[in-house]
Amino acid sequence: MKNHSDVFEKCHEFHEAEEARKGGWYPFFRPIEANHGSRVVIEGREMIMAGSNNYLGLAFDERVREAAIHAVEQYGSSCSGSRFMNGSLALHEELEQKLATFVGKESALVFTTGYQSNLGAISALLGADDHVVTDKLDHASIMDGVFLARGMQKNITMHRFRHNDLADLRKVLERIPESAGILIIVDGVFSMEGDIALLPEIRKIADDYGARVYLDEAHAIGVLGKSGRGTVEHFEGVAQPDLTMCTFSKALASIGGFIAGEERVIDYIRHHARPLIFSASMPPATIGATLKSIEIIQQEPERVQRLQHIARFMLDGFKALGFNTGTAETPIVPLHIGDNQKTFLFWKALFERGVYVNPVIAPAVPPNGAMIRTSYMAVHTDEELETILRISGEEGKKLGIIQS
Ligand SMILES: Cc1ncc(COP(=O)(O)O)c(C=O)c1O
Repeated sequence: MKNHSDVFEKCHEFHEAEEARKGGWYPFFRPIEANHGSRVVIEGREMIMAGSNNYLGLAFDERVREAAIHAVEQYGSSCSGSRFMNGSLALHEELEQKLATFVGKESALVFTTGYQSNLGAISALLGADDHVVTDKLDHASIMDGVFLARGMQKNITMHRFRHNDLADLRKVLERIPESAGILIIVDGVFSMEGDIALLPEIRKIADDYGARVYLDEAHAIGVLGKSGRGTVEHFEGVAQPDLTMCTFSKALASIGGFIAGEERVIDYIRHHARPLIFSASMPPATIGATLKSIEIIQQEPERVQRLQHIARFMLDGFKALGFNTGTAETPIVPLHIGDNQKTFLFWKALFERGVYVNPVIAPAVPPNGAMIRTSYMAVHTDEELETILRISGEEGKKLGIIQS
């Protein structure tokens, strides 16, 4: 018998989660017992939810729930296969057409999750000798898409530029050989910082270097722009990405995702994206829910406007209390703390007083960049928002996060 080391060894040496559970400050995987949108029940207690991505509150909209049920009644509970084979429904194609029109592109392709959309589109597009350039704060699914691409084709070069730093982006592009293909990938709204990519400037720089722009609109569609069309609308249509990606798990109240762009490019992705080809397609219920959410966003832009009003109110409120909200300008409002322990203590204090938020530590943010991520929904009441601010202020002072 050979004496190899055990692949399970690392699991037996992993104690951080266990220690946090024992200390009573383990914040992750907390089961929600009932969900009513801006209120949830956890451990038998009703809490204000200030940590959800259900930005427009549509996940509990009766019309969205009915559309999901209707789709199940018509098409069943599963597609039982991949889009490539038996898993394509007329409903997938209807959704793809609606999405392409919604974001102003020729064609769209849906995936079973937003994560798979990034994995599939990025890994399909990058080939030998290509260079990919990402913002340092891009979402993990973008990085994983690049890793998958590099797993299949070693000769892909990856670069990261400092967050939203245009001079650094130019510096990176300057170093890339002229013969190489370049894909620049940025989040429209950054999921932790809550700030917005400088799309018009990025487009201009990309054009100067013959690069393509890929925009992840996960936190932007339904959130930015007068009618919720995202980052492009926020900048009044002055710049377009070559490809728009988005997930359905946030403002669109479902699960799944899509990539949209020029028909030839989408067709290439359709035939080369392994996460599309080798995974079962989006099930009927989630397509039904997504279609209805898009329809509601188009009919009720006042939801988007209420969300934008709330975002400004909460940002101003936290700043007035003395919290460091960094560069945030959307309904994602981070409270930057730095220290992990203080962040967990603050999370625990808020949790005990009935406010649900998310603590975020490295590697989701840079080391020493621990924060509380708060996020808001169009269905939050003014009273709930004021309660969140009051309790955060009181607990923040006790912990010395803000001045007394
Ligand atoms: C910017 C961004 N892109 C992609 C994803 C992945 O989407 P999903 O969770 O719907 O798979 C997320 C989700 O957290 C995200 O924040």
